[in-house]
Amino acid sequence: MSNILVKVENIVKSFGGLVALNDCSLDIKTNSITGIIGPNGSGKTTLFNVITGNLKPDTGNIFYNGIEITNYESHELFHLGILRTFQIAHEFTNMTVIENLMVVPGDQKGEKLLYSLLYDKKIKKEDEEIRDKAMEVLQFLKIEHLKNERAGNLSGGQKKLLELARTMMVDAKIVFLDEVGAGVNKTLLKDISESILKLNQDKGYTFCMIEHDFNFISELCDPVIVLAEGSVLFKGTAQEVKQNEQVIESYLGKGIKK
Ligand SMILES: Nc1ncnc2c1ncn2[C@@H]1O[C@H](COP(=O)(O)OP(=O)(O)O)[C@@H](O)[C@H]1O
Ligand SMILES: [Mg+2]
Repeated sequence: MSNILVKVENIVKSFGGLVALNDCSLDIKTNSITGIIGPNGSGKTTLFNVITGNLKPDTGNIFYNGIEITNYESHELFHLGILRTFQIAHEFTNMTVIENLMVVPGDQKGEKLLYSLLYDKKIKKEDEEIRDKAMEVLQFLKIEHLKNERAGNLSGGQKKLLELARTMMVDAKIVFLDEVGAGVNKTLLKDISESILKLNQDKGYTFCMIEHDFNFISELCDPVIVLAEGSVLFKGTAQEVKQNEQVIESYLGKGIKK
């Protein structure tokens, strides 16, 4: 079997006259932590939106484990284990951290959970199982002390960790992280970084992450893919990216954090 988990082929996506993705092709290897960098507006978030079913491409194809998923809806992809976090965290502010995890849609019974919670003993048992799972996730990410905190009260970085935690409530195969490190302080960034590595190594998660902080990318990602004007400009190790003339000219020169 091939070790390519996600294959993006010749994707074009325009918004009116603006071509956000322009014949974009790339592969994400199973078990990799693939980094995506590129200037603002180069199409990174659009790429994630197209892969994870939040936007339909104009043309091109996307494959997951060799199966074409180009026009799958995001909930279908979710059930295949393709998950994403958003550039802007989207927690339920009025719920506690543990409640935020417990409402992540699981199987059918899980989805009915909220409606039947008080009526059905069997559901109650499932509720306990989901709660146990949520506790396990919080422990894995070392944030169990936050379990009863209102999600709206979390710091920016803690919200990012909660986003990551949500992806662990189901059997994720690949997680797309959109600027999970943005605006996060150094200590928390280290926690996030360790969690990503641990999920990659212990749970076999594949990651594809958009990030501006080149140090953060360098520590975690191989390969690093550079997007420019909606297509792939370069792909290589972080070291190779740093040394590539074309990348330096088009991007690194313009303010990447070294
Ligand atoms: N929903 C949308 N409607 C119109 N234009 C969009 C939309 N999403 C993105 N764009 C445009 O597409 C280009 C790529 O955006 P985006 O994928 O968000 O870039 P990046 O994440 O690399 O900063 C930008 O010019 C942006 O303004
Ligand atoms: Mg973006």
